Amino acid sequence: MSRLRVDYDELGLTYNSHRREDPRLASRIHAGLGQARTVINVGAGTGAYEPSDRWVLAVEPSATMRARRPPGSAPVIDARAEALPFDDDAVDAAMACATIHHWQPAATGLAEMRRVAPGPVVIFTWSWRASRSGSASIWLRGSPASGRCFRRWRKS
Ligand SMILES: C[S@@+](CC[C@H](N)C(=O)[O-])C[C@H]1O[C@@H](n2cnc3c(N)ncnc32)[C@H](O)[C@@H]1O
Repeated sequence: MSRLRVDYDELGLTYNSHRREDPRLASRIHAGLGQARTVINVGAGTGAYEPSDRWVLAVEPSATMRARRPPGSAPVIDARAEALPFDDDAVDAAMACATIHHWQPAATGLAEMRRVAPGPVVIFTWSWRASRSGSASIWLRGSPASGRCFRRWRKS
């Protein structure tokens, strides 16, 4: 999987103005969490797709993104997927949306999710290699900050 270098401390300044949940994805993500009562959301950003009917703890390394979580959001800690600061089997389930393409490598973060959550591990992602002219080009469309980030990514 290619890793996308994006500075979320910059992109995060405007992230909430263009990030929208897709209700079809939301229902599948929430169904995937099954009966889990405790959930960690890894690479949580500003909280998209976090369920409101269970206990959730968000994990997010960007201070800008953490600061832009709406009032009433789940609590958030500063940590990365590759080294989750939790004991084995600490929570029922784990989720990660639109983030594993940033992990270094993704496999390490996925193994960490499996280690800390014995139940469902729900991932929403897509192939960036296959979609550079497709979904990647419309992701966050309209954001000047994202435009700058993607131009940098294409150069690297
Ligand atoms: C496209 S945003 C997605 C945020 C949120 N999950 C959503 O669906 O809106 C990607 C997020 O992954 C975070 N991220 C980047 N590298 C990470 C890592 N190594 N571990 C955990 N999160 C990471 C970024 O800070 C950013 O908030």
